[in-house]
Amino acid sequence: MRIAVTGTAGQVALALAERGPPAGVDVIAVGRPGLDLMRPDSVLPALRAAEADAIVSAAAYTAVDQAEGDAATAFSVNAAGAGAVAAAAREMGVPLLHLSTDYVFDGALDRPYREDDPTAPLGVYGASKLAGEEAVLSAGGRAAVFRTAWVYSPFGRNFVKTMVGLAASRSEVSVVADQQGRPTSALDIADALVAAARRLVSAPQDPALQGVFHLAGGDDATWCALAQATFDRLAAAGRPHCVARPIPASQYPTPARRPANSRLDGAKLKAVYGIEVPGWRASLSETVARLTA
Ligand SMILES: NC(=O)c1ccc[n+]([C@@H]2O[C@H](COP(=O)([O-])OP(=O)(O)OC[C@H]3O[C@@H](n4cnc5c(N)ncnc54)[C@H](OP(=O)(O)O)[C@@H]3O)[C@@H](O)[C@H]2O)c1
Repeated sequence: MRIAVTGTAGQVALALAERGPPAGVDVIAVGRPGLDLMRPDSVLPALRAAEADAIVSAAAYTAVDQAEGDAATAFSVNAAGAGAVAAAAREMGVPLLHLSTDYVFDGALDRPYREDDPTAPLGVYGASKLAGEEAVLSAGGRAAVFRTAWVYSPFGRNFVKTMVGLAASRSEVSVVADQQGRPTSALDIADALVAAARRLVSAPQDPALQGVFHLAGGDDATWCALAQATFDRLAAAGRPHCVARPIPASQYPTPARRPANSRLDGAKLKAVYGIEVPGWRASLSETVARLTA
């Protein structure tokens, strides 16, 4: 099986490129300048050339705070661009696995979010990704939307990598402790996408495999708990000790509002696809070890 993934230097794209081949899957990353989501006409030719059996749509405008002042670009990439990828997959007759976000929710619920809970994004990024979901699901092809969350990995830019960098020069870091989510390793996302792609390719007529699914790490966390767990692993590896000091989000103002609870419930993914994403504590150890090797 061959998977084409959009974006070349993204966390999920790089994780797929690493995890695909050992699982017997070729992964072709297709990104700028050949495929530019700002240029919808570029999408179909670039993806066709990859001759893939399935497409993973991972490229996105992911700068949550920057999006607040750049809504036009965020919507072009995350909504129109996602729609162009979905139209290309339909034209090519292959299934699409599209990544979306926990930030489609406003965080008002006091339990993990299920796929059919009402969406109400708090910011431009979440709104643009929600518009992308709608574009993908209405494109007329075979598509599954996988909402993921709090992605970290040895690659690209992410919270865990930032904490590892801060711990090198600080003994204490103030971190938001009143936002809850489910941190997810890009490597675990890649494993799940490979398994899901196999099912979508082998059972093209099964409508249960299409629609929206929550694909996130198995355990809850706050940003502060994730930071402390990162620092604990650094200390265990002989690095200087660093402490995460809990603060409320009100003391760390950002351009974009973030949900207080964006925990994603993975029960549907398990029931339909048989996929259970590992808890983040186990996967975090691998990422921290690789970042400090
Ligand atoms: N990161 C998170 O915490 C998080 C949380 C929830 C959901 N998600 C979703 O998960 C998916 C993967 O996230 P990630 O963390 O892997 O993203 P990432 O590391 O920020 O990478 C984004 C990728 O998108 C590409 N891209 C941006 N604009 C583009 C354009 N106009 N045309 C083509 N490619 C473009 C970038 O290309 P270049 O390589 O050229 O820069 C990069 O490869 C995204 O759909 C994201 O919305 C992420």
